[in-house]
Amino acid sequence: MARILAVGNATLDIINHVDTYPHEDQEVRAQSQQRCRGGNATNSLVILSQLGHDCAWAGTLAAEPDAETITSELRQYQIDLSAVHTLEHGKVPTSYVTLSRSSGSRTIVHFRDLPEYHSEHFAKIDLQHFDWVHFEGRNLPQVKLMLERMRLEQPRLPCSIEVEKPREGIEQLFAYADVLMFSRDFARHHGYEDPGEFLRYMSKQGLSAQMSCTWGEMGAHGLNKQGEILHVPAFPVEAVVDTLGAGDVFNAGLIDQLVRGHDLDTALTEASRLAGKKCGIYGLHIGEEIS
Ligand code: ADP
Ligand code: FRU
Repeated sequence: MARILAVGNATLDIINHVDTYPHEDQEVRAQSQQRCRGGNATNSLVILSQLGHDCAWAGTLAAEPDAETITSELRQYQIDLSAVHTLEHGKVPTSYVTLSRSSGSRTIVHFRDLPEYHSEHFAKIDLQHFDWVHFEGRNLPQVKLMLERMRLEQPRLPCSIEVEKPREGIEQLFAYADVLMFSRDFARHHGYEDPGEFLRYMSKQGLSAQMSCTWGEMGAHGLNKQGEILHVPAFPVEAVVDTLGAGDVFNAGLIDQLVRGHDLDTALTEASRLAGKKCGIYGLHIGEEIS
């Protein structure tokens, strides 16, 4: 069991379950609606907690009723909230998700105006308590300041960064990471339609990090410490019903395996199994309580 800190978002997800995804300007009725916690960093923590790790979240919340939906679920998974910064005013970031029953696709409209976590809040966290720190690649330059502090005080503390959306200057964060977790969106933004080619390009950027790049039902690629490009196919799922958070589950699977000392090949295989399993069920309760 490892002690894992994740810095990033928790959201309120309002999920409308529809039979098939509507086209623009259509009116459809949802079969059901669900309001639950989401957000990449906390999604990954919820999985890591079920895999037996001791988890803590650092992020912001607003003092408003929807925050309770978030904190009550995180508490249910024994996630430490002592580093959370709660703002007196504002609204928690909210995602309006349309989940198609026929394909399992999730279409997200996200809105946030809540201020992000600040490096001054991060400065209060005792990093000696952790075996791994995971960051969402967002909130520049504050995350850069957090990474600088971490590298100064704990140069050997393993650190992963999720690089999901292209953001100006995000490349400045890469040198701090032991593991970089890229999305299809990010690779496409750089003109790549092939994750292996994208990682080959990344391997020439003079970084020492291991890397992954997920590609939905096509599986994922990795770049290991020896500079080799690896590929794992997506795990076969009988019926894909819910892909919301698949990437976050994949990242949790990678962290779980790497923090246990396994190599990237093994970690990719296990991450793919977990993410595939998640796509076959609704939500993130994967039913794998391991210690
Ligand atoms: P995100 O949730 O960030 O959009 P992806 O869609 O790239 O992430 O999916 C992340 C991982 O989840 C993939 O690499 C794969 O392992 C798994 N996955 C996604 N879609 C499927 C699917 N249809 N069947 C099986 N596994 C899937
Ligand atoms: C899934 C997710 C949702 C959230 C959205 C935020 O990866 O974390 O739970 O609403 O992405 O971008």
